[in-house]
Amino acid sequence: MKAVISLGGSVIGFPPDVEWLKRFRSFVKEFRRDIVGIVVGGGQIARTYIGAARELGASKFLQDRVGINTTLLNAWLVASALGDVSHGFASTFYPITVEGEKVPVFGGTEYPGLTTDFAAALLAEMTGSDFVNITRVGGIYDKNPDKHPDAKLIRRMSYAELLRLAQVGDKREPGTSFPIDIAAIHILRRSNIRTYVVGKDIKNLRKLFRGEEWTGTEITP
Ligand SMILES: Nc1ncnc2c1ncn2[C@@H]1O[C@H](COP(=O)(O)OP(=O)(O)OP(=O)(O)O)[C@@H](O)[C@H]1O
Ligand SMILES: [Mg+2]
Repeated sequence: MKAVISLGGSVIGFPPDVEWLKRFRSFVKEFRRDIVGIVVGGGQIARTYIGAARELGASKFLQDRVGINTTLLNAWLVASALGDVSHGFASTFYPITVEGEKVPVFGGTEYPGLTTDFAAALLAEMTGSDFVNITRVGGIYDKNPDKHPDAKLIRRMSYAELLRLAQVGDKREPGTSFPIDIAAIHILRRSNIRTYVVGKDIKNLRKLFRGEEWTGTEITP
């Protein structure tokens, strides 16, 4: 497998889940030749800071800028967890996506309106990689699993079905909660990028990368 990982900030949590980050390091170490780059999202700190900025009357532009900076904080933390398995934190993905022993870590781009999922989708498109989205729930469900205990995990779905489910709330609102954002799905669809949405279970991630039976959602054309 050759993949870009979009690591949901929701997985890192706040306070950060240090034990999970240690397990993630051993996973990345094992599959470092398969991982083109890791783009890290904002999670709870993003939602908290965006909420505060919104209450203070900040524009969407400023809310996004605040959110983007939380992704950088999380990305630095992931770079810290990866140590010598990683190139460390990279502020832009263009110059350093060389396939090799070390994995670059990225946060959000400098442009408001774009998410870390979107940056990760572009990176996958640029490098001809698959897209692996790690999120706090086990994949994509037929409805929000945090609100509906009877929600069912969807094992396979099309980009079109995913787009329909991703229309949660105001579609481009800073801090919208969904495993992959709409703009990213459009990139994945236009280039038919193989997409996998998985939970944070490291054993399951290993299975996916080894080509064994895994659980989560596969997006197909
Ligand atoms: N159909 C759905 N399937 C799965 N999750 C859904 C669905 N609809 C809404 N959600 C919500 O999306 C959340 C996951 O997305 P969220 O944006 O919070 O995390 P993330 O993308 O992993 O991390 P981040 O965006 O912070 O980087 C779930 O916890 C759930 O509340
Ligand atoms: Mg998200």
